[in-house]
Amino acid sequence: MAHTLEIKISINVFSSATELPADEQNLLQQAQAATRKAYAPYSNFLVGAALLLEDGSIHLGNNQENAAFPSGLCAERTALFGMRANIPDKKISKIAVTAQRANQEAFVLALPCGACRQVMSEYENQQEAPITVLMQADNGQVYRCESVSALLPLQFTRHNLGL
Ligand code: THU
Repeated sequence: MAHTLEIKISINVFSSATELPADEQNLLQQAQAATRKAYAPYSNFLVGAALLLEDGSIHLGNNQENAAFPSGLCAERTALFGMRANIPDKKISKIAVTAQRANQEAFVLALPCGACRQVMSEYENQQEAPITVLMQADNGQVYRCESVSALLPLQFTRHNLGL
């Protein structure tokens, strides 16, 4: 007899970044600064990502586009791969993602794409500690999720490879 598997996720919605603790406000500001430096001449959609590591250091990334479209990379993976290439042993505590349209000051909804969620989940699983995800939303709102696993239910992991 078939049954339904219901998966529930919880996201905290803040009406303003000022409601967040200082480290998270700072992380969002750093992500916004990275957003302004994005290279997105094709989509005109600029994205920035800021990682807070367990040692308090912050590592930035932004989307890097290419005339050969698939050669570009999202902000989150630019930040994550760059950080991991240099500092493979430190745990990631939090990631903030922000976005804006070219030539506009306002920040808009920034949701990590599926591929970026998958990459975040790889590191979250490996470090055996949750990564808090902060997402810029419209009108100054911020979405906060306690872990990547909540953003990516039924995820494919090393266990699916029999490892
Ligand atoms: N983008 C990101 O940087 N992160 C995401 O999670 C979603 C999409 C970028 C990729 C591309 O440069 C632009 O946004 C439009 O899709």
